[in-house]
Amino acid sequence: MSVDFVILAAGNGSRMHSSLPKFFQTVAGKPIIRYIIDACHELSHNVIVVTKDNLKGSKLFSDISISIQKDPLGTADAVKSSLPLLNSDYTVILCGDMPFIESEHLKSLIESKDENVILSMKIPDKFSQMPYGRVILKNSKFEKIIEYKDASNEDKKCPSANTGIYKIKTDLLKKYLPKIKKNANSMEFYLTDIFEIMKKDGIEISVIESSEYWPFHGINTMQDLALAEQIVQNQLRKKFMDLGVMLIAPETVYFSHDTKIASDVLIEPNVFIGNNVKIGKGSKIHAFSHIENCEIMNNVEIGPFARLRGNSVFMSDSSVGNFVEVKGSVFGEKTKAKHLSYIGDSTIGNHTNIGAGTITCNYDGVKKYKTQIGDDVFVGSNSTLIAPITISDGALIGAGSVITKNVENDALAISRARQIEVTNGAKKIWKKKGKIKNN
Ligand code: UD1
Ligand code: MG
Repeated sequence: MSVDFVILAAGNGSRMHSSLPKFFQTVAGKPIIRYIIDACHELSHNVIVVTKDNLKGSKLFSDISISIQKDPLGTADAVKSSLPLLNSDYTVILCGDMPFIESEHLKSLIESKDENVILSMKIPDKFSQMPYGRVILKNSKFEKIIEYKDASNEDKKCPSANTGIYKIKTDLLKKYLPKIKKNANSMEFYLTDIFEIMKKDGIEISVIESSEYWPFHGINTMQDLALAEQIVQNQLRKKFMDLGVMLIAPETVYFSHDTKIASDVLIEPNVFIGNNVKIGKGSKIHAFSHIENCEIMNNVEIGPFARLRGNSVFMSDSSVGNFVEVKGSVFGEKTKAKHLSYIGDSTIGNHTNIGAGTITCNYDGVKKYKTQIGDDVFVGSNSTLIAPITISDGALIGAGSVITKNVENDALAISRARQIEVTNGAKKIWKKKGKIKNN
């Protein structure tokens, strides 16, 4: 049996009040629409996303078919735009705003012997006011789906809600979709009306009710999005603790969907881990650190208050201390930058010490340049390294230097004004200014 998936993602998402389309909003760093596409792809059927014309070029859509809905005239109109692309026996339609749907749910729908199926869910009491369409049954048989905003108080009490996922025989979808009329209140064409019309023609409509809620949690508002984030973060925290990662205050640590962490890693409170981060065994991430796009190898120490980004790599036993930002750089084994530094576009060898307040000046206002620092280098505190520059193995940079030229192996480079001392100079000045008396 062949199946096409149609994901509806051309609505305005107006309840989000955001300039970013809601399908591109992220949960644990992954765009909502990608969760749904990936769940469909696991079953490797033809996947079609209905989107707006101005979004069709998004790289998020590079591995699926696209159909364009010109104006958001409702879910039925959205499906209509995909009809020319449907050529399987069945079509599974999903809303594009439910990131927790898993391939298992879709698989059970596809494998059901019923031909035309609405997947419903039992709404938990605490979400009974959620504005999902209600699936009304009469004598255990499907009667209609009524949208929450059009429902009577009695219908609103119905605990069986429409998940927004359906399986329909493709020939019936093509036949009945044009029969849907505009909803008089919203002036939209509701896909949900198709089932009542089919039923009136004597076609069997099945309702499969799931006792779960979260897999079908739809994101319509910023509150829905925040709730989704909370759920995913709790799952990720549990996953990492189960793998032997120590979280002192789990509720304050944020992960990304693709974070990878080995066992025996300690993460202190208030740490944010963005996309593409890998942390090796035995490493410690101290409080208030912000890390994205980085590989941290074994026994590395980060923070507190460190910011790491831009595909940086920290080799084993290296360390980055408080108020240090590292971007696009490599730290060799046992290399340290413990305090108040900016290291950008730099490659640093092994056993090198970067003193407090060191800045790599990688940007001249137009272009970015690279800094190369070798093994066993000692960069004295408050040094300014003007890129492009190479500081070779074993070199020593005097504190407070501004280094503009390459430094050879084992050389000492120092560039600061020589200190002079005037005997009783301070006293003379204070007398002149009248701070102390002349005598
Ligand atoms: C929809 C269902 C509701 C169900 C809920 C589940 C309808 C009429 N209502 O309500 O019964 O309980 O999902 O989450 O289907 N879209 C388009 N083009 C449009 C309008 C919408 O592509 O013209 C897309 C949206 O982008 C979204 C999906 O269809 O991904 C559903 O639209 P949305 O506005 O979120 O409907 P809900 O009110 O959530
Ligand atoms: Mg919705």
